[in-house]
Amino acid sequence: MSIPIIRTLADLRKTVAVWRHDDLKIAVVPTMGALHEGHLSLVRAALDRADRVIVTLFVNPKQFNSAADLAAYPRTEHNDAAKLASLGAHILYAPGGAEMYPQGFATTVSVSGVSDGLCGAYRPGHFDGVATVVAKLFLQTGADFAFFGEKDFQQLHVVRRMARDLDIPVEIVACPTVREEDGLAMSSRNARLSPPERQVAPRIAAILFDAAARIGGGAPIDATLDEARSAIAAAGYARIEYLELRAEEDLAPMHTLDRPGRLLVAAWLGETRLIDNVGLPARREAIARAAASDGSHPDVISNRAVRGPNQAARHT
Ligand code: PAF
Repeated sequence: MSIPIIRTLADLRKTVAVWRHDDLKIAVVPTMGALHEGHLSLVRAALDRADRVIVTLFVNPKQFNSAADLAAYPRTEHNDAAKLASLGAHILYAPGGAEMYPQGFATTVSVSGVSDGLCGAYRPGHFDGVATVVAKLFLQTGADFAFFGEKDFQQLHVVRRMARDLDIPVEIVACPTVREEDGLAMSSRNARLSPPERQVAPRIAAILFDAAARIGGGAPIDATLDEARSAIAAAGYARIEYLELRAEEDLAPMHTLDRPGRLLVAAWLGETRLIDNVGLPARREAIARAAASDGSHPDVISNRAVRGPNQAARHT
């Protein structure tokens, strides 16, 4: 079995026009290739939801911060196409650079607010590159649904905001992070880790989940994050860019767990930058305190424990 590979926007539009004529629902799964189980989980979710699934493969130069990083990005189109064919995806859209950004291309989509801080602070221009290419992919495919992994949690917020602000009629569907057996979040960048680094890598997930469980259980946020930073450094991560608690809904910084939060981390292991995150339900006591101070009565409260990175389904 093989999958049709489309290289030009004109050909993509012809295919999509036929599907639209037949009143079929279309999903898009944007990727940069080097597909792993995390991507494939998005494709399966898309196949469950839509009649036709377009997987896009474009290593987007506008979202890389260095030419070396762009050059080192794995390119495995042949294998990617085989994986997608076996799942039953309908089209692989893999345009070249000149098709996506023809001579004279001069537009940038920039999303303020949710792009600030976290990865945005360490990768200047990265989210402009992501928002620009994803806006184009939404408009090119005309998809009804678009699937993104929660592992790139800030990206998910950027893409949601962009689609809402530009009135692009696409529903953004978020899928849980898929993890290796030892808890490491799947990423195309994991392939760059040396064998000793690969041994150490999952510690970041274990430390992240442990910190989340402790904060969820009432431990002080700042002290717990400081301890977690020390533990990540002690595990062998050379540089921790950030470890922060942000609001699940809008990524605002959080100092009490009075609404659902996300603990997000980025750190370097040797030459490889890894990111991860985990959700935290709001704490019963923090909600009650906030409600008491503004006189309201919370009726939905949750103190669900945070599961470990390799507990239950290998998902956060
Ligand atoms: O997450 C990615 O792989 C990329 O940022 C995306 C969404 C495909 C845009 O190039």
